[in-house]
Order: sequence, then C-alpha cells, then structure tokens
Amino acid sequence: MKETKQLVVSAIQNGTVIDHVPARNLFKVIQILGLDHIENQITFGTNLESKKLGKKAIIKISDRFFEDDDINRIALVAPQAKLNIIRDYEVVEKKVVEVPDQITGIAKCMNPKCITNFENVVTRFRVVSKKNVALKCHYCEKITNQENLQIK
Ligand code: CTP
Ligand code: ZN
Repeated sequence: MKETKQLVVSAIQNGTVIDHVPARNLFKVIQILGLDHIENQITFGTNLESKKLGKKAIIKISDRFFEDDDINRIALVAPQAKLNIIRDYEVVEKKVVEVPDQITGIAKCMNPKCITNFENVVTRFRVVSKKNVALKCHYCEKITNQENLQIK
C-alpha cells in the first residue's frame, strides 16, 4: 500500500482559503497573486490527496480578500480552484474562479521569435479555449497551451 503524506493546515480567523489548486502549480499561484511580496500570514499545504486533482494544494491567507479580477488570474494554472471567504472562523462565501477572455501580462508567449520575448512589451492574449487553456498571442498569433504555459 502506498503511503500518503498529508499536511494539516489549521483554520484561520479571517481571510481567504484557496482550495483545489493542482499541487504542481502551487508556486505559480503564489507568484500570480504576489503572495511572496505581502506581509500577511500565509499557510499552505501541498501534495494533499484529491480525487479530482490527484495531488492538490491549499493556501490560506489571513486578513486578505481579493478582487474577482485578481483571483481570476489564477484560473490559468488553477482552473478548478475554490475560494472560501472566512470571517470570524466561519466560511461566509464560496467562489469559483473564471477563466477571463483576455490575459494581460501573466503568461509568456511560447514563440521564441515573438516580440514580447525580446523587447520590453507586456504580453497580451485572447483565450481561445477556456477548458484546456489555450492563449492566442495578440502580437504573433501563435497559440500557447497549458503544457507550454510559463508565468512571467
Ligand atoms: N477553513 C479554514 N478556516 C476556517 C474555516 C474553513 O481554513 N475558519 C477552510 C477549511 O479547511 C476548508 C475550506 O476552508 O479547506 C472550506 O471550508 P468548509 O466549507 O468548512 O469545508 P468543506 O465543506 O470541506 O468545503 P468544500 O467541500 O466546499 O471544499
Ligand atoms: Zn507572441
């Protein structure tokens, strides 16, 4: 029998719990939300068992509540993420992320010849598939898909 590793992450009093993050994308989510630059207390667990995702991660950010537009940026790497808004230890709201129609400045274009890869130009994509995440570059029209997705 396989041994399963589980981290237990304790409850928070106020803040945001981001659940159902694919474990392999935990650090991308941290990067996209800029969690490495804030002073709030953050706890996370990773490689937790999940029927849906295989291995999942969970992130708990105390005293921080995100705008929907900010949260939707993580849809690229965590399309099944579920947010729980916590006030006074109670879950007062649950939200799911939505893949936006346009993505500005998060992802890298996979085309090495694209202008965004050798000049200081902010990337811009149209989301051509929300399910599997496929991004069409505004500049070179090449498609960057989930497997090739790199966060800037
Ligand atoms: N949570 C927390 N601190 C609290 C309350 C809840 O960190 N004070 C976390 C729980 O650990 C859980 C998530 O918020 O990961 C959602 O809590 P809850 O709705 O109680 O759990 P479930 O019913 O398991 O939610 P779901 O099935 O929707 O994932
Ligand atoms: Zn491009």
